[in-house]
Amino acid sequence: MPTSKLSSQERDSLLDSARQALKRAYAPYSNFHVGAAVLTEDGQLFSGCNVENASYGLTICAERSAIFTAVQQAAGGKLAIRAVAVVNGDELPCSPCGACRQVIFEFGENAIVIFKGQQSYLEMPIQELLPESFRFS
Ligand code: THU
Repeated sequence: MPTSKLSSQERDSLLDSARQALKRAYAPYSNFHVGAAVLTEDGQLFSGCNVENASYGLTICAERSAIFTAVQQAAGGKLAIRAVAVVNGDELPCSPCGACRQVIFEFGENAIVIFKGQQSYLEMPIQELLPESFRFS
């Protein structure tokens, strides 16, 4: 079922929440600070930031950090993602990495993803960002 377009209020709340989370980023190795926010189908907002580690591969991206918090706290115990926004402290173009795309899809087959493109912020359905995603079924 395709999701309706985000209202400007939903979009602003997502971006504000992601920018708040960005302030908590722990990124002493890359110095690339990232914040993300998740809007659920029933209107809840959750946020997350990237958390790096001296053992680099243990780093978690802001998007997965936000989604894993949402999994723990979503009302009704079941997460359904309507939209995800990602921002960074350098205002560089930055779409979610492949791993985060797969995790977004798991909880929102029709989620809308907001990210900084070459010029402005773009809104794209997850199925466009991750065609042929993996699903157990
Ligand atoms: N990062 C994110 O948190 N989200 C993205 O969409 C891209 C990359 C983080 C991971 C790492 O801490 C830093 O940015 C540099 O890759």
